[in-house]
Amino acid sequence: MKPVVAIDGPAGSGKGTLARMIASHFNFVYLDTGLLYRTVAFLSIPLIKIRTMGIKELLDTASTLTNEQLRSAGNSARTSDIAKMPEIRDVMTHLQQNFIDLYKKQGTVLDGRDIGTVVVPDACCKLFITADLKERARRRFIDLKDKNTTFDEIFNNIKLRDIQDKSRKIAPLTCDETYIMIDTTDMSVQESFKICREEVKKAFMNSEFRSFV
Ligand code: DC
Repeated sequence: MKPVVAIDGPAGSGKGTLARMIASHFNFVYLDTGLLYRTVAFLSIPLIKIRTMGIKELLDTASTLTNEQLRSAGNSARTSDIAKMPEIRDVMTHLQQNFIDLYKKQGTVLDGRDIGTVVVPDACCKLFITADLKERARRRFIDLKDKNTTFDEIFNNIKLRDIQDKSRKIAPLTCDETYIMIDTTDMSVQESFKICREEVKKAFMNSEFRSFV
């Protein structure tokens, strides 16, 4: 088993916010794995180059890009496309496992689509964060600075990404009995965080990593 909180879930479920809050509360190191995929997509980094990069180099590269560049609709679509490629997923999985090893004394929180299924199936705690499609679109719409985008565009965009994330052949977004499923549709961020925090604490206390919490 690894001292890791693995958080998976669909786009706009709030898993990134919750992952950051969990990391900060327990003093774990956080990795937004979507950011890695978005960076590779935005810069079109060739596979041969990614294979020579360490996780720190990729994170340094990511830090040179802005949120607008990484999260634009165009780059989101490109990211979804490259995230289907088995060779890309393979090398990205290794980079994420490097990150986990690097911080194994402190504990880590990773969020994405295949963290608990592929990257670290033996994570100490696995959470699956979800919410209704309409509610997720509503949250994204409120967050988005670019008000030229309509609610319907965001709704359709998330709907399409749900289909792509769940139906791809390699590492699809899926939840099994090893996860704790948390539906945040009718919950505030604080309410969702409280549940996550308790689940993380319980899982770590029942493991060899009780001293981490
Ligand atoms: O979490 P996000 O919305 O930033 O993810 C961006 C894209 O990357 C999304 O299409 C799913 C993909 N992704 C993935 O396939 N596996 C991950 N571990 C993280 C993200």
